[in-house]
Amino acid sequence: MQLGKLKLENNLILAPLLNISTGPYRKFCRHFGAIGLVSVPMLYSKRFAGKPESVEHELFKIEKEKPISVQLIGPDTESVKMSVEFLNSYDFNILDFNAGCPSRRAINSKEGGYLLKDIDLLKVILNTIIKYSNKPVSLKLRTGFYKSNGYLEIGKIAEDLGLEFITLHGRTVTKRFQSTTIELETIKKLKESVSIPVVGNGDIFDPESAKKMLDYTGADAIMIGRGSMGNPQIFSAIEKYLKTGKKETYKVQKDSLKNMIEIYENCIDTFLSGIDYPHDDFKFVELKKNSLWLSKFMKNATVFRNNISRIKTLYEFKRELDNFLSN
Ligand SMILES: Cc1cc2nc3c(=O)[nH]c(=O)nc-3n(C[C@H](O)[C@H](O)[C@H](O)COP(=O)(O)O)c2cc1C
Repeated sequence: MQLGKLKLENNLILAPLLNISTGPYRKFCRHFGAIGLVSVPMLYSKRFAGKPESVEHELFKIEKEKPISVQLIGPDTESVKMSVEFLNSYDFNILDFNAGCPSRRAINSKEGGYLLKDIDLLKVILNTIIKYSNKPVSLKLRTGFYKSNGYLEIGKIAEDLGLEFITLHGRTVTKRFQSTTIELETIKKLKESVSIPVVGNGDIFDPESAKKMLDYTGADAIMIGRGSMGNPQIFSAIEKYLKTGKKETYKVQKDSLKNMIEIYENCIDTFLSGIDYPHDDFKFVELKKNSLWLSKFMKNATVFRNNISRIKTLYEFKRELDNFLSN
């Protein structure tokens, strides 16, 4: 499919997820069908202004992951310009700007979702990105700050500025991640009002919700975040369901958990090979969190999960995993 200038193998996008959609995570999801586009989570523009080297490890080997998008978050044109100039030397496909993050840190620093309160400033920042970036630009936003009211105006701005596409998470900033608040209607209205592609995002946890998002809103593509955590197969399951109407069923058992963790470890090793980074610490953090998610629906895994939550080293992780799998 075509998403602006990007040619993608399918219309499924792995969302930017801070501290989650790392290099190995993206590779893992790709392995299970996230073959459309994957996203590097938000990079704070203030980090580029301070110590640009501190973001380098987040961009390791991204040229090997194309098609891939990198996301920037920032409150002003100066730090954003500096960040864009730094990012220009990397090889990736699309530079995404974050105007949706609801975190206290983002709102206090007047960036992310805060910019939905100051659409004039958002426009000026987008203009700066377009002027200085050597990549196509996209925008990810929520529907508004307190109420769903700014997104159509911003959609028009994005269209006039020639952005490649807009991703709309169908919630206001103040709704954060409350369940049952996803507004498919807003995504549908945005799709009807702009000529650039629209990506629908929010609460896709299974093939049915993916199909509903596409059918109801008419979105060109869909973005999946939390639904991939511990369930990377969601991508292939959605693709199959959209093509055939058939649902895949899979149960996590010890052998499948073992297999998934081995695949994840492989993704980490491939990612780390040849780079100068604290391997064991990184590997431990990645394996620990992903094992917890991968075992969340598994029967009789409570003790394993409690033990894993407490451990502090890669050595302990391996020991707990071996114990669990061999009993
Ligand atoms: C832990 C976590 C980290 C996130 N990090 C980012 C981020 O870096 N950039 C961004 O635009 N959105 C971020 N989001 C929001 C997701 O990209 C997505 O818009 C949101 O989770 C809704 O999609 P979902 O219901 O499929 O999870 C994050 C969400 C979570 C839960």
